[in-house]
Amino acid sequence: MTAQFQNELDKIKEKCLHCQKCELCKTRHNIVFSGGIPNNKLMLIGEAPGYYEDMQGEPFVGKAGQLLDKIFASVGLSRQKDVYICNTLKCRPPDNRDPLPEEKEACKEYLDAQIEILKPRIILLCGRVAVASMMDTKLGITRLRGKWYEGPHFSKMMPIFHPSYLLRNDSREKGSPKWLMWQDIQEIKRVYDQMN
Ligand code: URA
Repeated sequence: MTAQFQNELDKIKEKCLHCQKCELCKTRHNIVFSGGIPNNKLMLIGEAPGYYEDMQGEPFVGKAGQLLDKIFASVGLSRQKDVYICNTLKCRPPDNRDPLPEEKEACKEYLDAQIEILKPRIILLCGRVAVASMMDTKLGITRLRGKWYEGPHFSKMMPIFHPSYLLRNDSREKGSPKWLMWQDIQEIKRVYDQMN
């Protein structure tokens, strides 16, 4: 299964490696195409590479990524076995600024291709940039998170808080962002387990 996906994904990655569709190609050290394991069950879409991701060519390798791994591990999931991870942008915006509309537009074909090839049954939209790239809504992540929406190819999509946001909000009290994340990941695992 993975090998079959890999071939098609590699072709898209190759295109990204030479991509000059926006200005970010001038400042990137590496493109960050994906991480985790290609599969048709669970995909996570983040925002854009940060400093460490740009240096290593891997998504979510900094502090936010370590927290993301812990969140998945709390319900027995891991990027090595279960989750395909990608971003809205494949190149790092300088100083981690928000992606510009023309950058998102230029990069969308690569994200669309990743979704088209894998047709994941569950898509997690990690943070507001990922939500904006996949949903037509003005509602903020706090209103949207934790609920299922219909995504491409009849997938189930759920917006979740970005781990960087959780790192800035340390409380674990009932109703806090970390507590809400814990509810969300359990719901995600419940639905994941129902899929064969
Ligand atoms: N934040 C993201 O949204 N993506 C990464 O790859 C790293 C940090």
